Amino acid sequence: MIDSSTLAERPSHVPADRVVDFDVFSPPGVEKDFQDAWAALQVSGAPDIIWTPRYGGHWVPTRGRVIAAMFRDHERFSSRVPQVPKDQGELYEFIPQTLDPPRHRPYRNLLNDSFSPKAILRMEDRVRRLAIDLIEGFRAKGRCNFVRDYAEILPIHIFLSIVDLPIADAPYLLNLANQINRPDGSMTLEEALTNFRDYLGVWIDKRRGGEGRDLLTKLVNSEVEGRPLSRDEVLRMTNIVLLAGLDTVVNFLGFMMLFLARNPEHRRKLTRDPGLIPAAVDEFVRRFPVVLIGREVTRDMDYEGVTFKKGEMVMIPTMLHGLDDRENPGAPTVDYRREKSEHSTFGGGVHRCAGSFLARAEIRVTLEEWLSRIPEFHIEEGAEIRHNGGLVGGIQELPLVWDSPSGV
Ligand code: HEM
Repeated sequence: MIDSSTLAERPSHVPADRVVDFDVFSPPGVEKDFQDAWAALQVSGAPDIIWTPRYGGHWVPTRGRVIAAMFRDHERFSSRVPQVPKDQGELYEFIPQTLDPPRHRPYRNLLNDSFSPKAILRMEDRVRRLAIDLIEGFRAKGRCNFVRDYAEILPIHIFLSIVDLPIADAPYLLNLANQINRPDGSMTLEEALTNFRDYLGVWIDKRRGGEGRDLLTKLVNSEVEGRPLSRDEVLRMTNIVLLAGLDTVVNFLGFMMLFLARNPEHRRKLTRDPGLIPAAVDEFVRRFPVVLIGREVTRDMDYEGVTFKKGEMVMIPTMLHGLDDRENPGAPTVDYRREKSEHSTFGGGVHRCAGSFLARAEIRVTLEEWLSRIPEFHIEEGAEIRHNGGLVGGIQELPLVWDSPSGV
């Protein structure tokens, strides 16, 4: 495997003025602010598409216009390998994420029903009850670690209820998902994926022929192209629903609450006028994108003034669309009354996030239930908030305190 410090030699078709030595998993200054560290590329005046010699050498679009175009263009930018280094990216076999059209569609259709706006409306009460229980669980203490005590718990419990698996298994699955998304060395990627398959395999076998309305039972008993979904396909689909819906929501909620903890005028505005919350959800989604995702170039071609070769990798930072000043004037400013909001926080094209309605519901309910219970809060004195990069950027700890059990 290629590590971040090995620099690839510049291929002859890559012009020298496109080369920027940039580590996409750990942009300079990421510990201080993940989104700012990415936006620094635009501020530095980097070209709209750069090439970095890290992780075997790959391309990176740096402007919203190019990012959106690449997401839409599945014919030239394939999802077969979603991350660098390519040998690691090839281990990801998630469905439908790594399939291109036309194979992608029938699998995606199987997910769409469970995550449609109507389905999410039916789920909203569950999300709200869970949010309230979590907040009430620590409100009287006057403190919590927002990431561990709230953000990590909400999405895994929702996932378990979507697939109807025991809530008691949440800590085990959360640890496996963390080892896949940001390993701490306690197990390899292969071990984490195997453990996950072993766990789910037992449940898949039990649900075959079942009548339940949960997503797992539905997948196990579904057909694609006139044949039943195989056990392996169900595993690869369930895997992505868990992984895609976990770190993204955890980290997004962390960034949002960090912003509100640091900006009293914003949380007061939303507390005073909860009618602004839906617009705030849209604006936070634009302002705090978290996902970096890869594509493989399918053919030799000239694209936006550069030559791409078949098989080369492109890492697409969704961050650089919402944060692009050319698309969103005054992009760093959070403004709930923004007239135009352009972003790729949920991707675009055929792979656009299957869970975006659920994610938005989790974000909105969190704002509504938190601000009505704990309107005033701040970061614990002396706490050092460290951001991290990766395929999903985030913050690991967010210790919040508030003045009295009533939060007033
Ligand atoms: C703030 C939260 C979230 C963000 C920022 C986010 C972002 C994204 C992005 C950028 C993609 C596109 C990946 C690509 O083009 O290769 C994606 C795909 C996907 N997301 Fe999300 N996501 C979020 C929450 C969720 C949730 C809650 C779920 C489900 C429980 C989910 C399920 C999926 C699935 C299944 C895909 C693959 C879709 C396909 O390949 O057709 N996501 N997400």
